[in-house]
Amino acid sequence: MTASNASITTVSLPYGTAGIAAAAAVIADGGCVAVPTETVYGLAADATDSRAVAGIYAAKGRPGFNPLIVHVPDRAAAGALAVFDAAAEALAGAFWPGPLTLVLPMREGAGIASLVTAGLPTIAIRVPAHDAMQALLAATGRPLAAPSANASGSISPTRADHVLRSLDGRIPMVIDAGPTARGIESTIIACIDGQVRELRPGPIPRAAVAELLGVAVGGAGPGIEAPGQLVSHYAPSKPVRLNATDRQAGEWLIGFGPVQGDDTLSAQGDVVEAAARLFDALHVADAADAVRIAVAPVPDHGLGAAINDRLRRAAVPA
Ligand code: TXA
Ligand code: MG
Repeated sequence: MTASNASITTVSLPYGTAGIAAAAAVIADGGCVAVPTETVYGLAADATDSRAVAGIYAAKGRPGFNPLIVHVPDRAAAGALAVFDAAAEALAGAFWPGPLTLVLPMREGAGIASLVTAGLPTIAIRVPAHDAMQALLAATGRPLAAPSANASGSISPTRADHVLRSLDGRIPMVIDAGPTARGIESTIIACIDGQVRELRPGPIPRAAVAELLGVAVGGAGPGIEAPGQLVSHYAPSKPVRLNATDRQAGEWLIGFGPVQGDDTLSAQGDVVEAAARLFDALHVADAADAVRIAVAPVPDHGLGAAINDRLRRAAVPA
């Protein structure tokens, strides 16, 4: 399947029992579905299924891999995935369900696909306050990764029409529950190493967070231009050589298609499979005995562009 170009029929179903059952079936099958939250419509897939998450990126045509927000039904489900400190506990108690995302240390064995976190040891998590997203979480029983349901570069969707405008023919289904209440993406707050920082402004003001916690809340920090670049993406600790067609001395070779390596992103040369495996492959390479990492050429079509963007960043010396 070359998901990026294939045109499929997108069905729009009204929010209700039948619509949610149909959407849950698509997700159980490894697909993604557009569904409203109280902020914007999200493009949801099973966060534990790396192929399904790669499908989100393929549909959006994103040029890179930003870590995605994981949606869960309640605080207890969030606790299975992330470690809450006192500040995170207080914020969850005050603002969940609602338009607040917490970036927290991920729990060992959380089972979240590495493409969701872009290989980071942290996870962005939120409990949405919208019946449709909550119904989908209940029907699937899975944590759902969901970025905004728009093609890369187009505006965030607050109605099913907006979703269709950029994703018609690229996703199987949109659940229509009318316009969203908030209209902008959730506020993102990181609670890591005892520090509280706002990574993205949103419906919950930074001042409300500071007032609740009784501490100053900093911003994202210097040198960060775009939300996707926050807190630095996972980067291997070893030098990375790109477009390698053979293994040189001291290298761990990550193969693709005809180039066989110590590991492979996709023996079939499938860019969707390669995206699903990318961060795991980098982690394995980093942990191997070899002192350098080499990566076979990946074609630039479809998700290949996002893979190459990530690989170029990985190859820049720290
Ligand atoms: O309102 C919303 O939050 C919407 C709806 C659909 O829920 N979702 C949304 O998701 O905006 P998304 O995946 O587009 O937001 C991803 C952003 C990244 O660009 C990054 O800023 C931040 O979340 N993020 C995710 N994981 C992170 C992490 N581990 N560390 C730092 N930032 C992270
Ligand atoms: Mg977006």
